[in-house]
Formats: sequence, structure tokens, C-alpha cells
Amino acid sequence: MGTAWMFLLSQILVLAAYSLSDSYSTPAAGSTQERIIYDFGKGIWPENIILRHNGNVLGGLLSTPQIFEIDPITHECKITHTFEDKTGVFGFAETEPDLFYAVASNFSLGTFEGVEGSADLYELDFRSLSQDPKIRKVMDFPAAGWFNGLATLDGEKGL
Ligand SMILES: *[C@@H]1O[C@H](CO)[C@@H](O)[C@H](O)[C@H]1NC(C)=O
Repeated sequence: MGTAWMFLLSQILVLAAYSLSDSYSTPAAGSTQERIIYDFGKGIWPENIILRHNGNVLGGLLSTPQIFEIDPITHECKITHTFEDKTGVFGFAETEPDLFYAVASNFSLGTFEGVEGSADLYELDFRSLSQDPKIRKVMDFPAAGWFNGLATLDGEKGL
């Protein structure tokens, strides 16, 4: 192989190494800072969280059938909703800005089992300007005791 080829090859390898190191670079140690925005205290089990477009953290509890919303700036946590006939809330998914879905069911933290037929899907509509979301049941799952999460496959086609 001639010198010119060797030079070209070495330049290609340098470029490849450069682009690899560029795309796979890891953040420098200490560049991510974590801080506690809210302490739920002992015995409270937050299960799933999702970010709202206003920056608040929306989530559900397993230890009580409640939906909470935390303002990470003021550290305020408010209970947005309590499901009267359930024991816990699982999973959150958003299909369009501020339109969320969650499953509430009767789940025992003691046995880690859900009551068959108790899992229902709820729509949580935060789109109105009023503070309180509109919450309605959209589906029963007669064979399900609980759900381990929810995800949006396609905002128009569903969950
Ligand atoms: C779920 O739990 C609630 C609260 O304890 C109760 O009122 C309701 O009847 C239960 N539902 C089922 C299907 O077990």
C-alpha cells in the first residue's frame, strides 16, 4: 500500500474515532444534579409519574387511590383526585397535550395481587383552564386485577 493510501486510511480512522467519541460521549461527572422536590414520607408508594407540559409532575399512588401533582419549583404537592372505589393507581400515558389516561384498581400491597375485574381505565382531562381535571371512566377490564403501566402507541390510535 502506498504512502498516500496509508495517510488517507489513517485520516478516515481518525475521523471515525472522532465521530464515535462525539456521538457516544458521556456527560462529565457531576454535570447532572439531582435534588429532592418532594418527600412523600414513609408508607406512601408513588408508582408512576409523567411530566405535564407546564413542568409539573403528575403521578399516582399505590398506597392510596390518589392522583397527585407536584410543582417542582414551589415543592407543593396537591392531591388532584381520589378514586372512591379503588385502592391504587397505576400507569400514566398522554395522548395529546394534557390529556392523560391511568388505570385504577384494587391492588393489595400485602399480597401483591389485584382483585380480578377491579381494574378500570380513566381519562384525566387537564386541558380546560379550570384547575380541576375532568375525570371519567372509559373502560372496564373484567379479567384484570391491575396493570403494570400504560404507554401511548399513537396519540390518534390510542394506548
Ligand atoms: C375495591 O375497594 C373498594 C374500597 O375498599 C371497595 O369499595 C370496592 O367494593 C372494591 N371493589 C372490588 C371489585 O373489589
